[in-house]
Amino acid sequence: MPAASAALRSFAPTKPVLDGQVVLITGGTGSFGRRFVQRALAEQQPKKLIVFSRDELKQYEMQEALREQFDPAVLAKMRFFLGDVRDQSRLTLALRGADVVIHAAALKQVPAAEYNPSECIHTNVLGAENVVWASLNNRVQRVVALSTDKACNPINLYGATKLASDKTFVAANNLAGDIGTRFSVVRYGNVAGSRGSVAPLFERLAAKGAADLPITDPRMTRFWISLDQGVDFVLSSLEMMRGGEIFVPKIGSMTMPDVARALAPDLPHRTVGIRPGEKLHEMMISSDDARMTTELPDRYVIEPGFVEYTRRPFSEDGGQAVPDGFTYSSDTNTEWLDAAGLKALLAGHG
Ligand SMILES: NC(=O)c1ccc[n+]([C@@H]2O[C@H](COP(=O)([O-])OP(=O)(O)OC[C@H]3O[C@@H](n4cnc5c(N)ncnc54)[C@H](OP(=O)(O)O)[C@@H]3O)[C@@H](O)[C@H]2O)c1
Repeated sequence: MPAASAALRSFAPTKPVLDGQVVLITGGTGSFGRRFVQRALAEQQPKKLIVFSRDELKQYEMQEALREQFDPAVLAKMRFFLGDVRDQSRLTLALRGADVVIHAAALKQVPAAEYNPSECIHTNVLGAENVVWASLNNRVQRVVALSTDKACNPINLYGATKLASDKTFVAANNLAGDIGTRFSVVRYGNVAGSRGSVAPLFERLAAKGAADLPITDPRMTRFWISLDQGVDFVLSSLEMMRGGEIFVPKIGSMTMPDVARALAPDLPHRTVGIRPGEKLHEMMISSDDARMTTELPDRYVIEPGFVEYTRRPFSEDGGQAVPDGFTYSSDTNTEWLDAAGLKALLAGHG
């Protein structure tokens, strides 16, 4: 497939899935959350949209930014809840009357997680469990949790906590009984332009007149997705979810030197070595997951192993089983981004 199509693949839902729904997003002031809220207010008609996060300043700044973009009538749908996902009682209060939960709150910096493991475990693992219980207690209908490629065969604490979180959401479907809440996970790679991403770092260094760009390892590859593709992927996964699956989008890969060349063609590279806890290549589906994986035109679905609720697998609805031993990894990916593709992702297209 040509490079541009991976960058510009649309994951948009077929209909406005949030219309008439009370939606709560944990981590709503983060990179994903802010774009999700903007898009939901601009393109859909949610009944209420609740942002749940800890820092009052981020919430204040988000409110100010939204005031410049939307009419007061639209903003009347917004609620800003201060709260910590570690606090189940606060989550339970915030989730009263919610139909849909998008769980985007996380600690996600690999080095910080290595240095402060218990903080990362508290937010990413115990926080996930709290979202499950608060959703069940409030009879929420659908919950989508955001995951990362680092959760597949994890080698760092961040990835391990996200794997534990994924397992918590997948298993939660078996706890729902007649409440019927359905929980699913979306897993994707680097979000071009998100807070802490390497692409904005390279852009900043180039703008500041740096003499060279630091490259961890010239062989390193990563999956790339735009913020808008991520939002669309969450929305379309919300639309098609059956409960218990991990949705993985088909997105392009790029080597780190190609990322640097795309953003600063004239700057030389300086190899600085892989940081503790980093992989040379990222994986989204391991060969052990392959036997549970169904391929659809724009995504893979890792179907749940233990199903004690009514669920029809995607494999029975036109999905194709992937071959034995299949892996979806950023180095063996068949779709590669070029400089134009990366810039399109950074501009938010797709
Ligand atoms: N960015 C990427 O490249 C990428 C790639 C794959 C997957 N993901 C996943 O996508 C999700 C969103 O990522 P992002 O890039 O939007 O992250 P982000 O910009 O760092 O935002 C994280 C959000 O979570 C909130 N938060 C953190 N700890 C919290 C807690 N204990 N309780 C409540 N809220 C908390 C933060 O606000 P406060 O600090 O104010 O609480 C912020 O709103 C994460 O689950 C991440 O693992 C991201």
